[in-house]
Amino acid sequence: MYQDRGTEETVAQVCAADPFRGATVVDVVALHQRSLCYRLRFDDGRSAFVKRALPTGSGGAVDQEVAVLRQLSGSDLPVPRLLAALGDPRAPVLVTEDVTGSGTLETCRLDAGGTSPAWARAAARSVAAIHAVPTGSLPGDFPRCDPARRLVRAWTVVSPREVTRYASGFAEALRLLRGSHLVPLLRATADEWRPTAVVHGDIKSDNILCGAAPEAPRPLALVDWEAGGLGDPRWDVGCLIGDLVFTWLSGIDLDAGPSLDDWIAAADPPFSAVRTDIAAAVAAYEALVPVVAADRRLWVRFAAFFLLQRLCSAAIHSQVLPSRSLAYLQVAGQLLRRPDECAELLLCP
Ligand SMILES: Nc1ncnc2c1ncn2[C@@H]1O[C@H](COP(=O)(O)OP(=O)(O)O)[C@@H](O)[C@H]1O
Ligand SMILES: [Mg+2]
Repeated sequence: MYQDRGTEETVAQVCAADPFRGATVVDVVALHQRSLCYRLRFDDGRSAFVKRALPTGSGGAVDQEVAVLRQLSGSDLPVPRLLAALGDPRAPVLVTEDVTGSGTLETCRLDAGGTSPAWARAAARSVAAIHAVPTGSLPGDFPRCDPARRLVRAWTVVSPREVTRYASGFAEALRLLRGSHLVPLLRATADEWRPTAVVHGDIKSDNILCGAAPEAPRPLALVDWEAGGLGDPRWDVGCLIGDLVFTWLSGIDLDAGPSLDDWIAAADPPFSAVRTDIAAAVAAYEALVPVVAADRRLWVRFAAFFLLQRLCSAAIHSQVLPSRSLAYLQVAGQLLRRPDECAELLLCP
């Protein structure tokens, strides 16, 4: 049942903890992404999600996730219930409710034919519910996050260690980014950060787990709170928009013909469907949270960060930069340089 010693140790640690003492694990499903994640099933019918940072330290901030979930869990919010935080508080083993449901937002979109305004609305409402959490009663040591500034730093201050550790595609991506002259715009955008709400910080379809139906009372859960904390709510909305634009760009057909028009005409899902999803998400969010024109402009610019982040994280693992990267860069440039026109194109029904 165990893939390795580390898994076995983690399971033993969970079984010795209060909520699970006396129960026996009957199944371990590995769900690794950046961290070591498992779904454990117990003989009494319960199941739990378990996460441990990778020993290399590249697993992110599970302690931050614990601190955020301590505040949000146990309420009506769309987050998994925190069941335990075990071991070293600086590198804890996180145990939460298993919210597998019918899969990630990406899976549910694919099941619905590639896009789904109903799921887009459900995701936006969940994000709005988090942004509505009162900040006055948060403890003084509640995490703060600033992913925009962190990304600009990661893209501009690169250590030799990173260049040698990552595949050559990464250095190539950074060269392209520098050559695009977008860095001053990225910096100026990051300077607009206003920490006014609890935010998720890493909204993307992988981190949104859906239930049975978008119209259900609790349709989905936001997971992976390692980047969460007090931050700028406009970041989460920008990421939600960026995720949809990314879905569209991932579906354009670069072999359909020589011109951009050919690629776009053959896109699956088509731009019009993605745009309907974006407009649905934005309308659902705006029905719950007051928004001004400057917020919309920042959403669009933060959506560019999302595309660049996906470009760079794919580049880390590729020797040669995939040709699609140029499309992400190109669109990110438009979003950053012409946010008002892009807002009109993307956000309006
Ligand atoms: N509470 C949960 N219940 C069920 N599955 C989960 C839960 N949290 C995360 N997952 C699944 O495990 C994957 C990895 O977890 P995540 O917290 O996103 O880790 P990472 O930081 O490595 O991305 C997620 O993409 C999701 O599919
Ligand atoms: Mg994740």
